[in-house]
Amino acid sequence: MASGLICFKVLMLVVFVVACINQVCSQGTFDVKVFGAVGDGKTENTKAFRNAWKKACRSGGTVSIVDGTYLVDTIQFSGPCKGGVNFMVNAVVQAPPGKSDATYWISFRDVNGLIIQGNGTFDGQGPSAWPFKSCHKAASCTPLATTLVLTNVNQSLVKDITLLNSKGFQMKIEESENITISNITITAPADSPNTDGIHTGNINYVNILDSNIGTGDDCISIGAGTTNINITRVNCGPGHGISIGSIGKSPSDQNVKGVKVLSCNISSTQNGVRIKTWPSPFRVSISDVTFQDILMNNTRNPIIIDQQYCGGSEGCRGSSHVQVKDVKFIRVRGTSSSKIAVNLDCSRSKPCEGIELDDINLRLYSGGKAKSFCSNAHVSYTGTQNPPPCRNILPLM
Ligand SMILES: *[C@@H]1O[C@H](CO)[C@@H](O)[C@H](O)[C@H]1NC(C)=O
Ligand SMILES: *[C@@H]1O[C@H](CO)[C@@H](O)[C@H](O)[C@H]1NC(C)=O
Ligand SMILES: *[C@@H]1O[C@H](CO)[C@@H](O)[C@H](O)[C@H]1NC(C)=O
Ligand SMILES: *[C@@H]1O[C@H](CO)[C@@H](O)[C@H](O)[C@H]1NC(C)=O
Ligand SMILES: *[C@@H]1O[C@H](CO)[C@@H](O)[C@H](O)[C@H]1NC(C)=O
Ligand SMILES: *[C@@H]1O[C@H](CO)[C@@H](O)[C@H](O)[C@H]1NC(C)=O
Ligand SMILES: *[C@@H]1O[C@H](CO)[C@@H](O)[C@H](O)[C@H]1NC(C)=O
Repeated sequence: MASGLICFKVLMLVVFVVACINQVCSQGTFDVKVFGAVGDGKTENTKAFRNAWKKACRSGGTVSIVDGTYLVDTIQFSGPCKGGVNFMVNAVVQAPPGKSDATYWISFRDVNGLIIQGNGTFDGQGPSAWPFKSCHKAASCTPLATTLVLTNVNQSLVKDITLLNSKGFQMKIEESENITISNITITAPADSPNTDGIHTGNINYVNILDSNIGTGDDCISIGAGTTNINITRVNCGPGHGISIGSIGKSPSDQNVKGVKVLSCNISSTQNGVRIKTWPSPFRVSISDVTFQDILMNNTRNPIIIDQQYCGGSEGCRGSSHVQVKDVKFIRVRGTSSSKIAVNLDCSRSKPCEGIELDDINLRLYSGGKAKSFCSNAHVSYTGTQNPPPCRNILPLM
């Protein structure tokens, strides 16, 4: 019995080595199965994945994952690599169930010219980890693992893949440059804790296009130090909308500048397009932001600037020193599930400058007229204004 199995395994190995010599490997494609991975949803494949990556990285080749469900534990794929690396996922890559001690599940770092693509799925097995999140407001709790983290990855592309039920955030991009994310699907239930879709921080020149994101937290959160990001034709919902922030929690937060959110649909979410900053002494800025052609459907806060954001904790004190300026909302229309469809709640210490509302048409989802609110905001209006402009409360100078 046992020797038969060993014979079979040896035979399979020979088959794969021959296949490898004949074609696959010589073309620079490294099928994880050649390195011993088994897509049966039970075998632990971390080592095989690591070895396939090493080969592909050394030669500037392709890691190929096909057929089946591959169980993989916490893993880091790091460079520098010789040329670009292609990471092809046409299978399910699955995290072990339960909580993990690492901050990430799959990390790519120090790579130039990475392409992650395929019709496959990264399944974080979140439902088995989310119950541990009940402690998330306690200081001692570390966040659950992010499914996919890109750190110091430049000139790279992520396309076609699906991220399903992450334990923590679905994807983070940090300290990176020139990244395109296109045609991806991100899915987690509306009530899953902190499953942000895509979070960015300290990155420059990023495009997120033609993607569908539904999660239990922000669909996209644009964090400190993000510059030149375009988000185009993204469907968001359920979730907490497309947010800039939160900014100003940490003294190391860098400015956010150059954000364009274009032609997006936001449906059944807590927020639509949002800017959130902490009341803190840290002097950073958020500037040159455009939200244009955004369609809201049953969104609780379609347009919101919240400069008194404290991550949901009580006793938010003091005022924010984050300067919000030059923010345009152009052709934002659709329905709000709350009365206040436009809420510009800016800082008393640093009033918002250069806010423009141009052709806004938001009504109540339940029928009827919505209202607007503003505080400490310098706003100019053009075109249609539904709800009508708010009576601006500005601080005494
Ligand atoms: C990515 O670009 C940044 C900024 O140009 C550079 O400092 C960094 O070394 C680059 N990283 C890689 C992996 O090439
Ligand atoms: C996914 O891609 C692979 C490789 O191109 C292909 O063989 C397979 O049919 C595709 N599966 C689906 C569901 O489209
Ligand atoms: C951005 O990266 C792509 C590869 O994904 C490359 O083709 C393009 O030249 C890069 N653009 C810049 C400005 O570096
Ligand atoms: C988007 O990705 C899916 C796989 O998830 C693929 O079947 C489809 O062809 C892609 N669409 C485009 C326009 O590339
Ligand atoms: C974003 O779009 C603007 C045009 O609206 C373009 O000038 C800019 O280069 C784009 N940025 C990126 C990161 O592609
Ligand atoms: C948004 O919804 C409108 C109207 O239903 C539709 O025409 C448009 O294609 C949608 N946009 C995206 C990015 O799916
Ligand atoms: C609008 O939201 C409602 C309720 O949240 C949902 O049932 C409906 O499918 C949504 N419509 C569109 C076009 O997304």
